[in-house]
Amino acid sequence: MAGPKVATITIAFDGTEYTVSAGRTILVALEEAGLRFVRGVGCRGGVCGACTVLYRMRDAHPLVAGLMCQDEAKHGMEILSLPYIPQKKAVHRMELPPENSPEYQVLSLYPEVNNCVMCGECSRLCPVGIDVMGYVGMIKRGDLRSAAQQSFTCVQCQACVLRCPSSISQPNAALAARRFHGRYREAPAEHLAKALEKVESGHYRSLFRKVRRLSGVEFQALYQRREREPDDAPPGTWLPEDRSLI
Ligand code: SF4
Ligand code: SF4
Ligand code: FES
Repeated sequence: MAGPKVATITIAFDGTEYTVSAGRTILVALEEAGLRFVRGVGCRGGVCGACTVLYRMRDAHPLVAGLMCQDEAKHGMEILSLPYIPQKKAVHRMELPPENSPEYQVLSLYPEVNNCVMCGECSRLCPVGIDVMGYVGMIKRGDLRSAAQQSFTCVQCQACVLRCPSSISQPNAALAARRFHGRYREAPAEHLAKALEKVESGHYRSLFRKVRRLSGVEFQALYQRREREPDDAPPGTWLPEDRSLI
């Protein structure tokens, strides 16, 4: 007996048209159509930013950024893959010069935030819906707490950087805001201190040794078998069955 009919839609990816099942993410739809991604896809959970693409709907003007693993494929989408966006690694020395506050330090590392012309392109393009222009303004005003909170879900995809007429690296400035605010303005996290103690005391050493001895195939199998927090688990409620490592 034939199964229920699945509606199909047409999307274009890098100039080639594919007829795919409706109701899928762009990533799943393209994989079902036979594409295999060995680059440009990472966590599949909307966290790493590796699957960032640009797309527009046929006959519509706005070009938007999206995450293939999160955005639903829609009929008429024309998608452009972005396997790589050159970027400067954000290395921050966390010691403060005696004359600098954390707020001033972030501004001196990223003085270009003062050149923001408030065009709003970054906020319009952000695939996870962050008000990027908003957090740039907070960094300018020295409000690192708000900037840290507002940028918390940034996946470092760099889409905002692509369109900034003032050459601001918004995600790196936000990373500095989170780092300096966390280091100097928040109370130290007890659970983090405990975790570090465990690392330094050698608690995980035998596990690391065991993992290093695995072949690539064995390592992949171990990764596939890992216990994973369900996507719909309410925050703070899930614990793995094997608690020997926590
Ligand atoms: S703030 Fe920029 S780098 Fe971060 S997710 Fe949004 S567009 Fe990507
Ligand atoms: S794209 Fe650049 S100049 Fe425009 S609002 Fe964003 S940070 Fe400011
Ligand atoms: S694969 Fe990591 S955000 Fe999509």
